[in-house]
Parts: sequence; structure tokens; C-alpha cells
Amino acid sequence: MKMSLITIFFFFFFFFFLHCCSKTSAQGPAKAPSGPLNITAILEKNGQFSLFIRLLGSTQQGDQINTQLNNSNMGLTVFAPTDNAFSSLKAGTLNSLSDEQKIKLVQFHVLPTMMSMTQFQTTSNPIRTQAGNSAAAEFPLNVTTSGNSVNLTTGVNQATVSNTLFTGKNLAVYQVDSVLLPVEYFGSPAPATAPAPSKSDKDVPVSNPKSSTSDNSVDASGAVKSVPFGVAVFAAIAFWL
Ligand SMILES: *[C@@H]1O[C@H](CO)[C@@H](O)[C@H](O)[C@H]1NC(C)=O
Ligand SMILES: *[C@@H]1O[C@H](CO)[C@@H](O)[C@H](O)[C@H]1NC(C)=O
Ligand SMILES: *[C@@H]1O[C@H](CO)[C@@H](O)[C@H](O)[C@H]1NC(C)=O
Ligand SMILES: *[C@@H]1O[C@H](CO)[C@@H](O)[C@H](O)[C@H]1NC(C)=O
Repeated sequence: MKMSLITIFFFFFFFFFLHCCSKTSAQGPAKAPSGPLNITAILEKNGQFSLFIRLLGSTQQGDQINTQLNNSNMGLTVFAPTDNAFSSLKAGTLNSLSDEQKIKLVQFHVLPTMMSMTQFQTTSNPIRTQAGNSAAAEFPLNVTTSGNSVNLTTGVNQATVSNTLFTGKNLAVYQVDSVLLPVEYFGSPAPATAPAPSKSDKDVPVSNPKSSTSDNSVDASGAVKSVPFGVAVFAAIAFWL
């Protein structure tokens, strides 16, 4: 009786092992070549963009980017600020923005063409972002390069392109070490003055639950899914013991 129970456990672990490992090895290579591009999935592969991913979700710009990638030959360039970049912002910086301004902030990190690192060297300033057109001098963003080093300047702050995260058919994603702050919202010394009070009052309850929820429970859905299965196996074993 004891022996057969032990045998069952071994089979259980054996099949659990097979299940988990065949699943992960099949998922890795299968994802990249087929299907439409997914900015969230690209950023999730690298562990340090949870705050930008959250902003892409709450502003729905992640979906917007995916749809544009699916329909555009021009492609897109995305400057993704790291979690460090967000946490080194002055406290309340994002909460000082209305929902509309948060959308513009994300769009300020997206260029309407795919640009390679070498193309930055020859582009003329200011470059056009999704937030506004450069002809009207809205949301100006300047590129400065020196060799392989690329910096972005907004007139308020500067960011360094520190890594190429992805380049594909029509998408380039670069890691930047600072959140790009547009002069329209942060040009004045007191950033909290611009939005109308009624609007910013409405914002706070909307954005607070989002910023207090854990990123991983929602975003790392793939990783979380495997946990209940493991828990179920251990619960089954505990039951039999
Ligand atoms: C993009 O990837 C995220 C995270 O992996 C996923 O939650 C979302 O459903 C994907 N979107 C599409 C359109 O496949
Ligand atoms: C992408 O384009 C294909 C073909 O035009 C369409 O079937 C699909 O629904 C689109 N997907 C997204 C996420 O827009
Ligand atoms: C980019 O910024 C860094 C940090 O401020 C600086 O050391 C570097 O020289 C700059 N490079 C260019 C091309 O402006
Ligand atoms: C950006 O570049 C334009 C054109 O060279 C220049 O007029 C402007 O002052 C620059 N702005 C910043 C913030 O560097």
C-alpha cells in the first residue's frame, strides 16, 4: 500500500515535470516569429518595465501601438523608460497629469516611424513624436548623438538611450534611463498648476488604485498561471498523505 502510494507520487511528479518543462520550451521560440507584434509582451520579456507597461495599459496606448504596428508600414519607435526612471521622478509627477495628459506623455515616447540607431545621427531636430507635430513646435524632442551614444532632450530633461530592446520589421524599442518630460506640462517650475482642479480631483481616485496594485498579478499572467497547477499537485499529495 505504502509502495503504491510512493509510485503514484513519482508518476505525479514525473508528469508535472513533463508538463511544466515541455510547456516552457515550446512557448519560447514559438512566440517570436508568428503573430502580430505586441509591445507589452516585448517589454515583459525584460523585467524592468512594469511601470511603463502599467501606463501603457491604463492609457490604452499599448493596444493603440499594437494596432498601429499591425496596420502601418512606416512602423514605430518606442522609448521605454525603466522602472528606475519612473521611481526617480519627483513624487506626484504622474498624478499631477490628467488622463488626457498621461496619454500624451506616453505618445511623447513614441515616434511615428521606425528609426534605427544610425538614423538618429542624421535626423533633424526637433523630431516628430505621436504627441504632436514638430511643424507646430508642439512637444519638441531633440536627438543628440555622438558615435553610438544617443541622447534625447525635451527642454526640461534629458534621457540616454541605454539599450536596444527590440528591432523588427517595423518596430524599434529602446530603453531610456529617464521619463521624457514634455515642456508643455513640466516647463514651468510648478508642474501641478496647469490642470484644472476639477479634472485633477477626478484623476486621483482613478490613478491611485492602479498605482497601488501589484504589477505581477496582472502582467506576468504566464508565470502566475503555472502556480495554481503546482499548488493543486501539492494539495493532492497532502490529501493522500
Ligand atoms: C499582449 O501581451 C500581453 C502580455 O503578454 C497580453 O496580456 C495581451 O493579451 C497581448 N495582446 C494581444 C493583442 O495579443
Ligand atoms: C491585424 O491585422 C490582421 C489582418 O489585417 C487582422 O486580422 C487582425 O485582427 C489584426 N490584429 C490586431 C491586433 O489589430
Ligand atoms: C548623453 O548624456 C550623457 C549623460 O548626461 C553624457 O555623458 C553624454 O556625453 C551625452 N551624449 C551625447 C551624445 O550628448
Ligand atoms: C532642439 O533643436 C532645435 C533645432 O536645432 C533648436 O532650435 C531647439 O532649441 C532645441 N531644443 C532643445 C530643448 O534642445
